[in-house]
Amino acid sequence: MSIHVLEQGRLFCLHTKNTTYQMKADTYGYLLHTYYGKRIDDTDYSSQFLMLDRGFSGNPYKVGKFDRSYSLDTLPQEYPGFGTGDFRSTALMVRESTGNKTVELTFHTYEVMDGLYKIKGLPAAYSEDGEGETLVITLRDKVNGLKVLLYYGVLEEEDMIFRSVELWNEGSQKLWLEKAASMNLDLPFFDYDLISFYGRHNMERNVQRRQITYGQMSVGSTRGTSSHQQNPFVILAEEGATEEYGRCYGLAFLYSGSFLIEAEKDQTGLTRVNCGIHPDDFTWKLEVGESLELPQVMLTYCENGFTELSHHFHQTISEHIIRGKWKRRKCPILINNWEATYFDFDGEKLLQIANQANHLGINLFVLDDGWFGERDDDDCALGDWTANTEKLGCTLTELSNKLWKNHMRFGLWFEPEAISEDSDLYRKHPDWAVSAPDRDPALARNQLILDFTRKDVRKYIISSISEILSSKKIHYVKWDMNRSICDKFSNRLPKDRQGEFSHRYVLGLYEVLEKLTSKYPDVLFEGCSGGGGRFDAGMLFYTPQIWCSDNTDPINRLKIQYGTSFCYPPRTMGAHVSASPNHQTGRKTSLKTRAVVAMAGTFGYELNVLQLDEEEQSEIDRQTSFVKSFSDLLFQGKYYRLSSPEEVCTSWEFCDEEQKEALVFAVCYGIEANTRPYHVRVKGLAEDVLYKVIETGWNNEELDTDPIYLPGSVLMHAGLTFPVPKEDGDSFIFHIKAVSKE
Ligand code: DGJ
Repeated sequence: MSIHVLEQGRLFCLHTKNTTYQMKADTYGYLLHTYYGKRIDDTDYSSQFLMLDRGFSGNPYKVGKFDRSYSLDTLPQEYPGFGTGDFRSTALMVRESTGNKTVELTFHTYEVMDGLYKIKGLPAAYSEDGEGETLVITLRDKVNGLKVLLYYGVLEEEDMIFRSVELWNEGSQKLWLEKAASMNLDLPFFDYDLISFYGRHNMERNVQRRQITYGQMSVGSTRGTSSHQQNPFVILAEEGATEEYGRCYGLAFLYSGSFLIEAEKDQTGLTRVNCGIHPDDFTWKLEVGESLELPQVMLTYCENGFTELSHHFHQTISEHIIRGKWKRRKCPILINNWEATYFDFDGEKLLQIANQANHLGINLFVLDDGWFGERDDDDCALGDWTANTEKLGCTLTELSNKLWKNHMRFGLWFEPEAISEDSDLYRKHPDWAVSAPDRDPALARNQLILDFTRKDVRKYIISSISEILSSKKIHYVKWDMNRSICDKFSNRLPKDRQGEFSHRYVLGLYEVLEKLTSKYPDVLFEGCSGGGGRFDAGMLFYTPQIWCSDNTDPINRLKIQYGTSFCYPPRTMGAHVSASPNHQTGRKTSLKTRAVVAMAGTFGYELNVLQLDEEEQSEIDRQTSFVKSFSDLLFQGKYYRLSSPEEVCTSWEFCDEEQKEALVFAVCYGIEANTRPYHVRVKGLAEDVLYKVIETGWNNEELDTDPIYLPGSVLMHAGLTFPVPKEDGDSFIFHIKAVSKE
């Protein structure tokens, strides 16, 4: 049992293999957060709280007359409500019909259930074999009748806690939720840094680390998507924490819409962090008897730095978030025509590229934007999901059949949430596009957004995509989304529910994805939003991989993939070898380096193979053989960041669970003459096992290097020195394999 309930049902200890999370309903009925950290026993930890009569931190009425040291403003709260004397950033703000916003939650009851809980219409971690337990704590506001259920799913082995909240109006009047976080965490002692992942289109998930100082700081999005700009994942780390050292907490939101993560240090030095739907983009009316379930947050704690923290998330996302057949199946090596042709193609050209790619060991051809309607540029036709047979010179079925003849699978690009003004769909249904009353909607890439809060819109999208997928010739779908959402208004929602638009949009999106992915379980869906603009754990519940960035420059990708890897496993990151000079940066890099970097994700190509010379084509042939022979290691090996892109030499490693084999990759950029050695400690090997280490090309014979034989302890503690790079952007691969002791 990982959930212990003590003190007559008022002290709750959630134990995982290495952590303990504790809370307590105190004598006044307030639910205090008492501890989260390394596993301890069931001792009530609230004895350690310093009780002081602090000026301007008042006391609840029932307490204040005899104890002025008790204040909701200073004690660590489990789920703080607004207006009752806790002046820190709040988890819950509820407006009553009177206009009052004060909400006072006290403990009511609890329940422990086997397995992990589900959330209707929203992604949630699951376990296949009934693993896990769930604690539900019920709080109530006695005046307005609001009932708040706090959910805690616990996966012991993974050291993961899954939090969510359900709100019920059991009062006699309407209520409006103005802020409803999915979780709050108060850490009363010690100081922390906030590590977050910021960026922009083409340069997502850069790492930012700042000390949480007195006052509030936050990351979030009001774009209706999780966004390129801030990712819904943060780490709270003790000062000086590194990859292998230091206490840290990780928090990932399973949600693909507007979000807010706030961090605050209060007057007593307590650190508060909360996470939920962004309140600027959310108001929800709860009629009497209505309820709302909030999106889930994954929470973990680690004693030993970021590598361990990332492994918790990688393991949980791979085993408990990603679903369906593609949970265990690898994506075939694909070629996507976007950077090869953009809109300039016909069926013949596509087939030539696909057939040549097929000779080089590529098994899936993805036809990107421009195959439908009259779309020859990005100004028109979004929404018209019927193939342009004139442009293609054949039907999609014919194209697919021709590819199949060569055992080449076929994938298609869609942007289901978008609509162009210049489209048949818009001419027929202008009211399906999102816009605010009497205002011109803002354009982005000259396109509008379909109102996914509307049932008829969702039905149209499901049926038009189904029509294409039902031909059963499509093996892969790229689900793109190329703008942020504004003018948020639905002509189908009543005026007092317009604040629900953004969340209802996400619910609509999830409904469509759920229906399509369960109707077509063999089709691999890859998420995309102008690259990685919606790279979040919520999307991974439906699409097991996501195009990581529209930036395919391998040097920039080092940073993008490095940042992404803190939460998301490499198997979820779409990564392609593209042309040199690169289309986004103009930088020239070797074919080897481009492939080395793309191998830290779901590997593919995005260039015109017909324009490559024989030597390059033969190299691609060897690259695809290499990827296939190491596919298990790259798909499910443990991933280690060995050195960061801030250093001249960025390196990483995949090591198998049995510690028998590893691949170490390195790319050197910004090199200087008369170099100092680039040296890393290999990770995850077995101390006393002897390993053969060879610097390899795409096969062991390719480079004329002699193997060295070293025990795991030497490789992990003394380390491995990389060769001197011959040019900027040079890259290396080391194959490390256990050899039996003579
Ligand atoms: C944005 C995507 O990220 C690209 O890969 C490509 O599919 C374009 N959209 C097509 O419009």
